[in-house]
Amino acid sequence: MRYFFFAYLMAIVLVIGFAGFRGDRFTHTPIEVFNDMDQQAKVKAQSSNAFFADGIGSRKPVAGTVPIGLSIATKTAAEGAYQTYGFTHGSDFYNSGHMGDFWGEGFPDQIKVDAAFLRLGQERYNINCAICHGKAGDGKGVTAQYGIANIANFHTPGFIDPKAPDYRPNGSIYNTINMGKGLMSGYGASIPVKERWAIVAWVRTLGLSRTAPLAEPAVKDAMAAAQTAASAK
Ligand code: HEC
Repeated sequence: MRYFFFAYLMAIVLVIGFAGFRGDRFTHTPIEVFNDMDQQAKVKAQSSNAFFADGIGSRKPVAGTVPIGLSIATKTAAEGAYQTYGFTHGSDFYNSGHMGDFWGEGFPDQIKVDAAFLRLGQERYNINCAICHGKAGDGKGVTAQYGIANIANFHTPGFIDPKAPDYRPNGSIYNTINMGKGLMSGYGASIPVKERWAIVAWVRTLGLSRTAPLAEPAVKDAMAAAQTAASAK
């Protein structure tokens, strides 16, 4: 019986010894049996670093280089250029789609919507979005046939008519591309800021293409051009 109690006690000590302190926080360096990179040379955020002449640990983009997805600024900050680097977590309209607490409408100052910009948007949309939302934007992409339900249809009033109760301003569409919404995941990681706005412009175009009145001169011209092209074949 004595041995039993002894063994029992040892078992308790062993279990508590090995498992009891799991999850406790220590301030000292853990003993590293296997080198699983607990300790590594790195620059911690906001820390100083004697390696650089200015002593700042977190480096700014190297002068003269351009982060992926951005173009070289043609103006200095004093001349009114934007000093954001295109990261997704800015709080300005260009980076977030927000204007204060609201979704911004229209396009940010950095964006100029012209034919080339729309073509960029069309191309990026066809690459990233058409698989679900369909090339025409009707929500009947390839994946709809395989059971993805409820894909947004850009021909519905919520994407065309500013008076519709569920109308989405441009900033909201931008945010959906960036962060996702409901069943749709975000594409911010793979689509640079400027291209997100180009896609917003194209989503708008898809909606407009179904509602533009025939009496509109631009629509008439486009119809005539299409008919001429068709009869020339
Ligand atoms: C994998 C399929 C899929 C892809 C790819 C996809 N979407 Fe979606 N999208 C959805 C689904 C599903 C919904 C409906 C989400 C919900 O309401 O739960 C949706 C909803 C939306 C909405 C409406 C959000 C709202 O306000 O209700 C917009 C705008 C949108 N998508 C734009 C885009 C754009 C632009 C792209 C390309 C960058 C894209 N989507 C790529 C599946 C997709």
